[in-house]
Amino acid sequence: MKIGLKTLLLPAGEAAVAAAARVLADGGLVAFPTETVYGLGADATNAAAIAHLYQAKGRPAFNPLIAHVSDLGAARKIGRFDAAALQLAEAFWPGPLTLVLPKSADCAVADLATAGLDTVAIRIPAHPVARDILRAFGRPVVAPSANLSGHVSPTIAAHVLNDLGGRIDLIVDGGAVAVGVESTIVGIFDQPILLRPGGLPRADIERVLGLTLRQPPEDAESDSDQPLAPGMLASHYAPRTKVRLNAMRLEPGEALLAFGTDAVSGIEAAAAVMNLSVRGDLDEAAANLFGHLRALDTRAARTIAVMPIPDDGLGEAINDRLRRAAVGRE
Ligand code: TXA
Ligand code: MG
Repeated sequence: MKIGLKTLLLPAGEAAVAAAARVLADGGLVAFPTETVYGLGADATNAAAIAHLYQAKGRPAFNPLIAHVSDLGAARKIGRFDAAALQLAEAFWPGPLTLVLPKSADCAVADLATAGLDTVAIRIPAHPVARDILRAFGRPVVAPSANLSGHVSPTIAAHVLNDLGGRIDLIVDGGAVAVGVESTIVGIFDQPILLRPGGLPRADIERVLGLTLRQPPEDAESDSDQPLAPGMLASHYAPRTKVRLNAMRLEPGEALLAFGTDAVSGIEAAAAVMNLSVRGDLDEAAANLFGHLRALDTRAARTIAVMPIPDDGLGEAINDRLRRAAVGRE
């Protein structure tokens, strides 16, 4: 694989968009901002490029990728939309929602990207840089989060450079992302299923559909070979430091990931303190989550202790990512 290759970092703008489209057309790898997290893009129709992408991330090949497109017309060429899927697409695209749908008969997305499933995950991102790149390239782009597999997702270009510098061709720097957690994934099967909580709150989706989203069965989250949402491996969004949840008091040498202004005993002896949102705002907390986890991970703390975070709105996605970060480390 192309490790040792020089990674170009360009500020977002016309030149960067043109360069990104060229690199994608040549089968290369481009990291770019979306409104959720930075993605690592490859031509979704080019199996060799996708193989490089899996290698660059160190990602298990059974974990399929999301195809990003610029508009609904392009989405309908690769997936079969029923009434519910169309309703969600019209309500929330472009935006932080991914739909898992049956593949269309002539779906151009390479089998390697869908891990041999007969479904395809599709998203129209809202970030202007992502949309410009998709329009300039003109084909679907598969883009997982632009981090090494198992690491925390990147929310600024420097995170991408730390993880993937020397392994990919280009990083387009569009500053900090707005949402900060990955897209919400809904599977449109007999009944819609919430496959991954994310940047679009569950309640918004349920309001549009007029029904309660089903949850994947419990064992879909295990490390089995064929989980329902194959990326839902139990331990996934992981800093190196141990993570302890629902902390109300600190042990000496622990770092604190705070939320709000509730008192925490033992805070005087904290190795470090970062607050996701002093005013207790869950959207702000989501935007800060991965950056704060990365920052605390470098503080040589014994453990990152995390204060309780409410489960409503984006809190469901935040708590999901924190539980995964804590698995096997408590
Ligand atoms: O916000 C996001 O979704 C970001 C940005 C870059 O768009 N992308 C992202 O991709 O989070 P990734 O690869 O880190 O997560 C994609 C998830 C994985 O959990 C994968 O298993 C699931 O989507 N997935 C993809 N195709 C699927 C399919 N056909 N059926 C079920 N799950 C699927
Ligand atoms: Mg990821």
